[in-house]
Amino acid sequence: MVWLSPSAVLLSLTRLSFSIPFKLRQDSSVTTAILDDVTYTNKGLVGFGFIPSDFRESTGDTLGGIGSAIAFKQGTYQVLSNGSVTGTMVVHPDRGFNVDGTVDYQARQFEIDILLNPYYGSDNLDFEDAQKTVQLTYKRTILQFDRNDTKTTGLDALAVRPAQNGFPSDPLADPEMPIASEDEPHLTIDAEGLVANSDGSYWVSDEYGPYIYRFDANGQLIQTIQPPAAILPMDKDGDINFTSDDDPTTGRAGNQGFEGLTLDPINNVLYAMLQSATIQDGGDDKSTSRYTRLVAYDVSDPTVTRPSLVGEWVVPLPLSSKGNTEACSEIHFVSPGIFLALSRDGDGRGGDDNNSKYKNADLFSIAQATDIHGTDFDDPSNPIAKKGKLNKNITPAEYVEFVSFVDDDQLARFGLHNDDPSDETLIDAKWESLALAPVGDPDFPDDYFLFTFADNDFMTTDGISVGQPYDAGLDVDNQVLVFRVTLPSVDPASVEKALGID
Ligand SMILES: *[C@@H]1O[C@H](CO)[C@@H](O)[C@H](O)[C@H]1NC(C)=O
Ligand SMILES: *[C@@H]1O[C@H](CO)[C@@H](O)[C@H](O)[C@H]1NC(C)=O
Ligand SMILES: *[C@@H]1O[C@H](CO)[C@@H](O)[C@H](O)[C@H]1NC(C)=O
Ligand SMILES: *[C@@H]1O[C@H](CO)[C@@H](O)[C@H](O)[C@H]1NC(C)=O
Repeated sequence: MVWLSPSAVLLSLTRLSFSIPFKLRQDSSVTTAILDDVTYTNKGLVGFGFIPSDFRESTGDTLGGIGSAIAFKQGTYQVLSNGSVTGTMVVHPDRGFNVDGTVDYQARQFEIDILLNPYYGSDNLDFEDAQKTVQLTYKRTILQFDRNDTKTTGLDALAVRPAQNGFPSDPLADPEMPIASEDEPHLTIDAEGLVANSDGSYWVSDEYGPYIYRFDANGQLIQTIQPPAAILPMDKDGDINFTSDDDPTTGRAGNQGFEGLTLDPINNVLYAMLQSATIQDGGDDKSTSRYTRLVAYDVSDPTVTRPSLVGEWVVPLPLSSKGNTEACSEIHFVSPGIFLALSRDGDGRGGDDNNSKYKNADLFSIAQATDIHGTDFDDPSNPIAKKGKLNKNITPAEYVEFVSFVDDDQLARFGLHNDDPSDETLIDAKWESLALAPVGDPDFPDDYFLFTFADNDFMTTDGISVGQPYDAGLDVDNQVLVFRVTLPSVDPASVEKALGID
């Protein structure tokens, strides 16, 4: 479906004076970050759009939470001669509308066509004109299936399916899997990260395992990666319990799984990062949970059943003024050793408070950080940061602030705001996804568009969840923001490979 008639688009674009493609404003809103002696530049917000909160996808369910994870479908991204760009974005909701308890929501991904008409002007657009800068068209839904064509679910993972016989030599074998119950042995997935592969398959990271799954282009599970024991949720007897309702004794905290997933497409290394610290590393409290773990897997050989762990590092997440962790909802590969990290509070439209203090796409470097993979720290009895105090033998990543999503001047250019009042022009609370694509400006070859989609938690007053109507009490649109950034360390061949550009 399309929200604008072509003539309305044309009219508004004339008014937005796009006549000089790529022309950039140079003013005080440009911010920089320095990491490993490289200067990265944020040139500001260039696009905004949304899909209405009540939009329904082809299964009849509310589209909901499209921003848990995003990735351009390979071979679809194009820079047009007028400076606009288009592509098909594959997006992942998490586990459905679960404000009143988890639901039997089959994991799925959506394809959404995106057209970005970047706006570089300094005048403040009104909300109506601003949303013409990013046009979003829902195309289709791909449901995801466990082995044997069994549907997956979003229900809490109260039971464990034992590892399959033949593990690990049987190519169909899986490790212990989170399932809803013995009676309903459906694989339960709370998807939070997405990587598009050149063969049409997708890596999907989740919160329950926390695992990384590979699905083929039709949504069939083909591979499962289980993290080291230190990350697996275990009870006091050392048994795995995947529930998200309670924190385990060791391992990932409830709902703090692999929010971040990204690929180094040249070296074929897949990276996943926990939203915040494991329980033994201080993850049981916001004031001690900043030292999270980044893990790396060699995925160069798609025929290997169990990709091997090739790296693990500690990343220090930013802290609020009260000393609480700004947990990380996404990471994105920039160049070997350098990543973007989307760390934030939960305030804004749909959040507890209207005033968001921290929503950033930051940068971190693991160039000097200690690689702890394969050491005693992979055993849950050896914390890296007991009660949140980092072990002195570990050098963590270097983390620097970069792009703020809650810059009042930048939001105002697109008819948006932070803080009271709460209405459709208030920035969404939960941003959980990042994608990079080249601007294609010959004068600025290091410039990239940074796309981010919000997760609205399926909040609408007119919803359908697994066929049943619901009213979440608030309409939170699925907002999309696009920034223009200069990333001098990026190898253009890497981004082209990630996007499937020949
Ligand atoms: C650029 O061209 C595309 C394709 O014709 C069109 O859809 C888009 O609106 C144009 N952008 C601008 C800013 O005119
Ligand atoms: C799939 O089906 C095969 C053959 O019936 C069975 O042995 C296997 O346990 C099933 N696997 C799962 C995960 O259901
Ligand atoms: C996990 O813990 C929950 C209680 O939090 C319990 O209901 C469930 O049975 C446990 N699952 C396993 C596999 O022990
Ligand atoms: C957010 O704004 C709305 C209306 O604009 C107001 O009713 C609500 O109390 C505000 N929330 C907080 C936590 O201040």
